[in-house]
Amino acid sequence: GELSGGCPFNHEVKARSLIGRQNKDWWPEALPVDILTQGGLSPDPMGADFNYAEAFNALDYAALKADLTALMTDSKPWWPADYGHYGPFMIRMAWHAAGTYRTADGRGGANSGQQRFAPLNSWPDNGNLDKARRLLWPIKQKYGKNISWADLFILAGNVAIESMGGPVFGFGGGRRDVFEPERDIYWGAEEQWVAAEETRIQPEREMELEHPLAAIQMGLIYVNPEGPGGNPDPLQSARDIKITFERMAMNHEETVALTAGGHTFGKAHGAGDPSLVGDAPEGADIAMMGMGWTSTHESGMGEHTITSGIEGAWVNTPTEWSENYFRLLLDYEYELVRSPAGAQQWQPINQREEDKAPAAHDPSIRVPTMMTTADMALKVDPEFRAISEKFRNDHEAFKDAFARAWFKLTHRDMGPKVRYLGPEVPAEDLIWQDPVPAGKDPTSAEVERFSKAILGSGLTVGQLVKAAWASASSYRKTDHRGGANGARIRLDPQRGWEVNEPEELSRVLAEIEELRGELSMADAIVLAGSAAVGKAARDAGFDVTVPFQGGRGDATQDWTDAESFAVMEPAADGFRNYLKTKHSVKTEELLVDKASLLGLSVPEMAVLMGGLRVLGANYQNRPEGVLTNRVGQLTNDFFVNLLDNDTFWEVVDTSADEEFIGYDRGGKIEKWRATRTDLIFGSNSQLRATAEVYAEKGNEQLFVRHFIDAWVKVMNADRFDLLSADEVS
Ligand code: HEM
Repeated sequence: GELSGGCPFNHEVKARSLIGRQNKDWWPEALPVDILTQGGLSPDPMGADFNYAEAFNALDYAALKADLTALMTDSKPWWPADYGHYGPFMIRMAWHAAGTYRTADGRGGANSGQQRFAPLNSWPDNGNLDKARRLLWPIKQKYGKNISWADLFILAGNVAIESMGGPVFGFGGGRRDVFEPERDIYWGAEEQWVAAEETRIQPEREMELEHPLAAIQMGLIYVNPEGPGGNPDPLQSARDIKITFERMAMNHEETVALTAGGHTFGKAHGAGDPSLVGDAPEGADIAMMGMGWTSTHESGMGEHTITSGIEGAWVNTPTEWSENYFRLLLDYEYELVRSPAGAQQWQPINQREEDKAPAAHDPSIRVPTMMTTADMALKVDPEFRAISEKFRNDHEAFKDAFARAWFKLTHRDMGPKVRYLGPEVPAEDLIWQDPVPAGKDPTSAEVERFSKAILGSGLTVGQLVKAAWASASSYRKTDHRGGANGARIRLDPQRGWEVNEPEELSRVLAEIEELRGELSMADAIVLAGSAAVGKAARDAGFDVTVPFQGGRGDATQDWTDAESFAVMEPAADGFRNYLKTKHSVKTEELLVDKASLLGLSVPEMAVLMGGLRVLGANYQNRPEGVLTNRVGQLTNDFFVNLLDNDTFWEVVDTSADEEFIGYDRGGKIEKWRATRTDLIFGSNSQLRATAEVYAEKGNEQLFVRHFIDAWVKVMNADRFDLLSADEVS
């Protein structure tokens, strides 16, 4: 069908909504449990004071691993294990749990156990993984609160690899479960799962894969295994693999290592006619108790299983770590064949008997191995080929690369290492963990001295607030990256980002550097901003102090993965009234998205917006939204003037609906300028209701207090180091 959305960086398509198709669009008849969360009621049965880190640290980790190891070979009649070993199945489950991660917004990934919920529980690519999760239930039940589902998925993958002799680099726990499907994530706009045609990417029309997506089609973790749009072209498949794995933070070597290592294990399932497979879990019959894909092909399980539709193992030894994947991939020529389910796949020509695989449920039968079109990409694409040959010739390098890439895959969205728990956290620091050296808490005398000095330096409130905001607001709760700790604002690439006004920023940072004394730069940047907020409040007549918590460290350029930070550059920051280019998503939606990444509530978003405007924190000191005549004082003027009945607003007609002028009613006297991001607080009924509270007489103090609370929350958003080891999640 016709796509209603497109690439947000391409403004020729018509506007799409920020979040695209949601569960209620896919399953309109699903029970609306979420009405019970209205009014801020949490669906989390563990309660707000549950401390998962403490529970995890009390876990009998060795006993859990022993139970998981035993599970691998404890085949159940309701879903018999291929080759008597669930290991490969568990690896696929863990890989698909982690593999939804994407770098652009840090969303997706393994860290909240989302595979339990729609839409992920029902994505075609997650076919039959409902059984893998159900196999784990007795273990989850036994260990209860001491292990989250999210941690268990990944640990099960690790134990699976270990139990088949594969290399593992480590495990960090700490993924606290959530108890509802995520509503903040854009999975795409298509109205069909894995449609016949790819619409997200069209290189021949120079259309890059739609941002922020990291999968080629709705319902897939990455790419179509049969090739783009089902076309078995390994070179085109290589293109899709590269772009999707890059979007999940994997370079090409990591991509080859991961895929080859994964497909050293297990098999694909396509025993018969896929039309005999029933509804996915979310839409399945109530008596199925949350499981789906019931198949009426023969027994519907074991040797008759239909999942992807592709059939067969990649190697002759599918439950042992080996060198066979690259050997079979590179030593044989392959021909295109069809599986019993009709899928296109590749079969070795003249395969020797000993290179054939045992049948999954009868080892006395030997069957040809296979490769998917995506596997063939590792053989046919010249760059992938060189990597495959290197790994084939150097098995130790392959082992190491697989173990490290698996660790990265499964931990990428956990943030800094201080958040990892358990006895198997690797000692080695890895650059993608964005390491920050420990800081030291400054004395209160030092804090006072610096605050005075910086306020007397001649820098404006706006300049100091902007630098601190630029530093701290780079945080995103989705993968816990960014933030003020480390002061990466003074390193590449952040210091050069347009939104940060590089020239002015470098002058401000130089002044802070000169005055900081024993403070770290990271602390000094935050303190300078907080001191400026305090001054602005006092200048407006409010007797307040802004709490400051020191102890941040300064990161180095060497330990900053510039490339992986580059994708975090804001394309918009409504709090600074900054918009790089017009998007296909409405500008005010980008503000909501930014607020969501910062973990802000509606009132926190509103109060920060209104406060930052009057403090003079706009990008390039633009006038839009500065609805005050006393810039630099912390007042509720933004809200008072925004909601003034005597102002009427007109669009600046050259601005493509982005800029507005506020006139005096009756006359044509220009009073104010504003953007969509400003006016939305008067136009949207829900935001207006909040804006009214901050504009009301008697709430001036409330406004200041709320602003300071929200400011401090953003400044400290990444202070996992402040929490005791028991509290880091
Ligand atoms: C199974 C595709 C990457 C691990 C499969 C299946 C397909 C597939 C079609 C068969 C599913 C079924 O019918 O049961 C792909 C594609 C990839 C990719 C297109 C990327 C280009 C990976 C990665 C890993 C992995 C990175 C892990 C590191 C596995 C395992 C199985 C599997 C272990 C076997 C599951 C079982 O035996 O039940 N993959 N895969 N795959 N995949 Fe991948």
